[in-house]
Amino acid sequence: SLDKSYTKNVRPWLELAEDLRALSLDHTLAVPQICVMGDQSSGKSSVLEALSGVPFPRGSGLVTRCPCRMVMRRAAPDAPWAAVASTTTSGSSSITAESPEELTSIISRLTESLTRNTHGFSTESIIVRLTSPLSPDLTVVDLPGIVRTATVGQNVAVIEEVNSLIDDYLKQERTIILAVIPANQDIATVDILERAQHVDPDGERTLGVLTKPDLIGPGNEEEVVAVLSNVRKPLKLGYVMVKNRSQAQIKQGTSHEAARAEELRFFDSHPVFSRLDKRLLGISNLTTSLTKLLVRRIQEELAPMKRQVEMLLSKVRTDVRAVSSYGTASTPSERQKLLVTLTQEFVRHLNDCVRGEYRDRL
Ligand code: GDP
Ligand code: NA
Ligand code: MG
Repeated sequence: SLDKSYTKNVRPWLELAEDLRALSLDHTLAVPQICVMGDQSSGKSSVLEALSGVPFPRGSGLVTRCPCRMVMRRAAPDAPWAAVASTTTSGSSSITAESPEELTSIISRLTESLTRNTHGFSTESIIVRLTSPLSPDLTVVDLPGIVRTATVGQNVAVIEEVNSLIDDYLKQERTIILAVIPANQDIATVDILERAQHVDPDGERTLGVLTKPDLIGPGNEEEVVAVLSNVRKPLKLGYVMVKNRSQAQIKQGTSHEAARAEELRFFDSHPVFSRLDKRLLGISNLTTSLTKLLVRRIQEELAPMKRQVEMLLSKVRTDVRAVSSYGTASTPSERQKLLVTLTQEFVRHLNDCVRGEYRDRL
């Protein structure tokens, strides 16, 4: 159920981050967010499916072909499941989904429409707003996977575009990198960790998620334990291991709930993993860690974001002064004034958050 202190401590901060993004300063001001990143077919969409309960389009190859931002909010126990999807292209309208399955097909359709004229890949995003009694309070972005080599039907330009999109997200200093790593693969060969280390050398904003524990070869469990225990390749935020639905389970129609129960059973009965600290295992622990992490990041980054916006505002003021002294035509100057008003409003909003409203609620 929706306990009061939780709602008070978590919700306002997440809403604040969404408000800042909605004010469309996303390009000038990086707002804290969590991005799911990893090599192709490492299990990114599966992790997002496990977090959200929405069966994401997935499989082998480049299935995720544009960023998809999932804004998830937990609703009261008796509230219905509800979701609305749209895209960041101008003039995009919102589409309501009545069920998780309908949302999946809407995401596929929106992906199709975004990528039709752009070699099957787009930097525009799909935005999904989801509320349900089982949803976490979390905003997560799903991204296409890192492509290493061209396979049949992929051209080199697309691969470069995909990789540069991932770089754009990696570089944003307030992005938490949810690095998805197949546990059945040698960690030294995983591209995402190398690329994350490049932009986040101390591992301050990288959290490792190990997937496919059910596919680890016999005798390789201790190696995985060394990674999970943060010994083999240490990250400040550590690692969590989850078990998603396999391709076979998807074919059999295994439900989200059944997959979660199966995950618990798998870890509880595993000869090696059952001995590990429970907090390192399972989607429900990952969800809790992510919500805490995101809220803490938003709180910590509020003051730096405010300073950044104030600098932006003073620069805009200088520009406006310059523009009016040159007696430029009214249109650009009107635009500048509008920008000042918007930015002032934005700073006021941030001030309110820092001083009053939000702090009182904590
Ligand atoms: P993405 O390309 O990184 O988004 O990867 P997907 O989520 O599409 O997953 C790629 C394939 O791996 C799919 O067939 C999934 O069913 C499978 N998969 C993902 N996680 C697991 C897991 O924990 N166990 C097993 N057995 N298969 C998984
Ligand atoms: Na894939
Ligand atoms: Mg995917």
